[in-house]
Amino acid sequence: MMKLEKKDILGIREMTVDEINLILETAESFLEISTRDIKKVPTLRGKSVINLFYEASTRTRTSFEIAGKRLSADTINISASTSSVVKGETLIDTARNLEAMNPDIIVIRHSAAGAPHLLASLVSQSIINAGDGAHEHPSQALLDMMTIKAKKGKIAGLKVALVGDILHSRVARSNIYGLSKMGAQVVVAGPATMIPRDIERMGVKVYTKLDDAIADADVVMMLRIQLERQKQNIFPSLREYAQHYCLNRNNIKLAKDDVIVMHPGPMNRGVEISPDIADDPNYSVILDQVNNGVAVRMALLYLLSGGNE
Ligand code: CP
Repeated sequence: MMKLEKKDILGIREMTVDEINLILETAESFLEISTRDIKKVPTLRGKSVINLFYEASTRTRTSFEIAGKRLSADTINISASTSSVVKGETLIDTARNLEAMNPDIIVIRHSAAGAPHLLASLVSQSIINAGDGAHEHPSQALLDMMTIKAKKGKIAGLKVALVGDILHSRVARSNIYGLSKMGAQVVVAGPATMIPRDIERMGVKVYTKLDDAIADADVVMMLRIQLERQKQNIFPSLREYAQHYCLNRNNIKLAKDDVIVMHPGPMNRGVEISPDIADDPNYSVILDQVNNGVAVRMALLYLLSGGNE
C-alpha cells in the first residue's frame, strides 16, 4: 500500500489525487473504530499530538483530540487565550518551545494565512493546518470529499455548488482545489462583494444568484458569513442576505431530486440555511460530515506518523 510521502499537511493545493485517495481510503478503514464499545486501538501509543488553536473551534479541535485518543496518542490542547500568547509570546517562540518538548505532530489553527507553513519551516515535527485565515482548511475539505464519496459513490462528474461568503472561506478554497482535482464540476455563488476577484482562474464557474448555481446540482454546500473576518459591511443586512442566499424548501427544488446539502458549521440558521433544510435527513448530511471528520483526522495522524510503512 502507498505511504504518504509528506512531513506536513498544509493545504489541498499541493496534494496529488493519489494522496487524497490514500487519505480517504485510510479514513474509510478507520470509521468502524468509532462504532465499537471500546473506541480505542493502540496504533499511535507513545506518540504525542499538540492541538495549538489561536482561533475558536468546536468541530476541528474536538475531532483532532478524539482522533488522537482513539489511536492511543497523547493529545494536548493549547488555546491562545490560556497560553503565554496573552503575555505577548510570538508564534515563533511558542513553536520553538513546543518543539523542545518533542511532540510528534502539531495541529495549528491561526487567523493568519501561512502561519502553519511558517511553523513547518521552523520545527522538525509534522504540522497539520487546521485552518489558516481565509487560506485553507485541508482536513475539512477531506472530510467533505469523504462524505460526498460515501453518499454519491463517486466525486468525478458531480456538480457541486458552494454558496455564501466565498471571499473569506478557507473551506471554499480547499474544497475548490480538492473537488476539482477529483473531477467534480465546481460552481460558486454569493453576492459580488463576497466573491474573490479572479476566482475563475481556479477553474470554477461564478454566479451571483443562488438559483442559477444550485440548478441541477448534486451537492449544495452552504457557507457561513464570516462576520469576524469582514473589515467593512459588504452586504446591507442579514435579513436582505437571507432573502437572496438562504437555502430553503422552495429553492432546493431546483437542484437534483437526490441532492445532498452540506455545511461545514457553525451554521447561521435562517441566514444561509433554513432550519428545516438543515435538519431534514432527506437532504442534510451535515452530521455525517462531523462523523467523517473524526475518521479523516485519525487517517492524517496515522499517515503522518509513518502509517502504511
Ligand atoms: N468546520 C469547522 O472548522 O468548524 P469549527 O470552527 O467548529 O472547528
